[in-house]
Amino acid sequence: MSVTSTKNKDLDIHSKVEQLVRKLTLEEKFLLLSNHNEQSAFSSTPIGRLGIPSLEMTDGPLGVSWHSSNRRGTRFPATICLSATWDRNLSQLMGEAIGREAREAGKRLLLAPGVNIHRTPLNGRTFEYMSEDPYLTKEIAIPYVRGVQKQGVGACLKHFAANNQETNRRTSSSEIDERTLHEIYLRPFKEIVQEAEPWSIMGSYNKINGKYVYENTHLLRRVLMKEWGFDGFVLTDWDATEYMHDAAICIKSGLSLEMPRPHCYRLELLRASFEKGEFTESMLDDVVGRFLRIFFLTGILTPKENSDDKRGDSTQHPSLARRIAEEGLVLLKNDRMLLPLRLQKTRRIALLGPNLDVKFGRPQYGGSSAVVPPYEITPLQGIRERSEGNIDLVNDASNADIAVIFAGLNHDKGKDSESEDRESFDLPQDQAELIKKTAQDNADTIVILISGSPIGMEDWLREVPTVLEAWYPGMEGGRAIANVLFGDVNPSGKLPITFPRRLRDSPAHSGKGNRTYPGDENLKVHYEEGINVGYRFFDTMSIEPNFPFGFGMSYTSFEYQKLRVDKKRIKSMKDHLVVSIDITNSGPVNGSEVIQVYASQNQSEVQRPLRELVGFEKIMLRPRQTSSLSVTVQAKDLAYYDGEKHRWRLAAGEVELHVGSSSRCDFLSETIVCYED
Ligand code: GLC
Repeated sequence: MSVTSTKNKDLDIHSKVEQLVRKLTLEEKFLLLSNHNEQSAFSSTPIGRLGIPSLEMTDGPLGVSWHSSNRRGTRFPATICLSATWDRNLSQLMGEAIGREAREAGKRLLLAPGVNIHRTPLNGRTFEYMSEDPYLTKEIAIPYVRGVQKQGVGACLKHFAANNQETNRRTSSSEIDERTLHEIYLRPFKEIVQEAEPWSIMGSYNKINGKYVYENTHLLRRVLMKEWGFDGFVLTDWDATEYMHDAAICIKSGLSLEMPRPHCYRLELLRASFEKGEFTESMLDDVVGRFLRIFFLTGILTPKENSDDKRGDSTQHPSLARRIAEEGLVLLKNDRMLLPLRLQKTRRIALLGPNLDVKFGRPQYGGSSAVVPPYEITPLQGIRERSEGNIDLVNDASNADIAVIFAGLNHDKGKDSESEDRESFDLPQDQAELIKKTAQDNADTIVILISGSPIGMEDWLREVPTVLEAWYPGMEGGRAIANVLFGDVNPSGKLPITFPRRLRDSPAHSGKGNRTYPGDENLKVHYEEGINVGYRFFDTMSIEPNFPFGFGMSYTSFEYQKLRVDKKRIKSMKDHLVVSIDITNSGPVNGSEVIQVYASQNQSEVQRPLRELVGFEKIMLRPRQTSSLSVTVQAKDLAYYDGEKHRWRLAAGEVELHVGSSSRCDFLSETIVCYED
């Protein structure tokens, strides 16, 4: 759609919304601010008199959830697996697929994606979010949002903001300085709002610096709506306003929809507050109008548009789910090139471990993101199918050519699950024992982790030659894992999150006591690490992780040559430059590589992390193929947030651009100069 026609479309919708708002009575406007239907937790209130239907919504980031749709949906891999693909195109395809399935379920708002930054490896919802890095998070989320909304279904960016742990999520306050808040925790929301225009945003449970987002007029009205230009609507997380009682402050702040039931927006509270003049009808019209905008964007006000939403679960996307699992799987260690399996020498494989034959797709298993698929292929089923009866599958490692242990976590409380954080950073003791025993029984032991967050490996990593992180790989996960083991697929995933050696190495856990995590006696979580979250912390503090951000091995190898840039000077925030490099597949098989660009600006007067991701591209190469690849680096991604001037700025001085295969590698580097804007 051309720019003018998009602008006309927006003007057209804006005037239609205004016309509709003018027809509503005051009472009807109050009704629209919350869900008054006790029978459903995923609907808004219809206004039959004016033909306004209920807006039907569904979770979640991994697909259309069972509990909000009674539909079996494609169970995609966990969102962290999607970001581990570093593949923007796959993310858009996933968004489009979930959008199609949501429409078939009669839903026009998808409560996804979750874009909260990984601050602690213990966060129970790490599997549902994208990365410790704001740049990677926004680069994967932008195409996802575009994909969903391309289907006429609204995306809902969540949870706004700084919801970085589950412990005390409804009562804690994230205590963050302004620069850190903007540069790390708000940045994905800002970039996604401005590049993908999500039709809605879900507020978080937690407070930020002592205020709930729903009473934070500055954050919503000034920052989100005025400065970033967000013209969608804000809704609560479920019962997130249960401890609040002030309707007027929520209206003034810009809250349009209280789900799944009224608290501040109970009719009697609204009437009383309005009568007292605590808010005006024009303030009310703004939040109601923002909500009604999605009815025009989805077209559900016109019966024809609504009619093609058939109810059912015939639309499925298993092959896309498998592709994402295959591309998101990360090969962490592969000594002696144990993988891919040498089929002529492998007659017997020992298959062990608690995650060998587990189906994770159960109602609300892991929380609101749970998707129940029509089927789910476990690793055991995938390997059995792929070995086609030509290989003995046994459970005795001492009497096998190779042993494969499926370890990791699950969605039980205290592991990778919503509403509680992980109890431990390490594997359960019995799993660590199993790994060590198996490695003694068979030197060729492979560990495959099925999990959604980094795991401590100190007491067994040296015992095993090969480790893969398969995340929660979705309904086709068993086939994806088998394809990688047998060499049909060459793994190309890269870690979107640092795997620390010890929990205390992690920025949220390196402080004293509970201040930095899970919070002090006043339930305040002090983000004392500031902007040094994830690899920013490990690099700046020179702490060696087990596996760094951006790391992932391949069955082939790549060589980088001839780094060049198309300009040496960046003069304004609107500027950009192009980094080009020749990359060769110097190994024996086809493979995909993620070329990453990091920026260092350590001479400027502003304290900056040692390195920050500012660009990446993924490319597939045949053996001995050389290709010249370009990565565009936007000036705004080189900027920092000035807490005193309350704005993003370029710092004057030299910037080193490092190009490589992870955040810690033998980089090729170039120096450019940034001018202060
Ligand atoms: C939950 C989650 C949110 C989800 C909502 C509806 O509490 O925090 O992500 O979309 O409620 O299930």
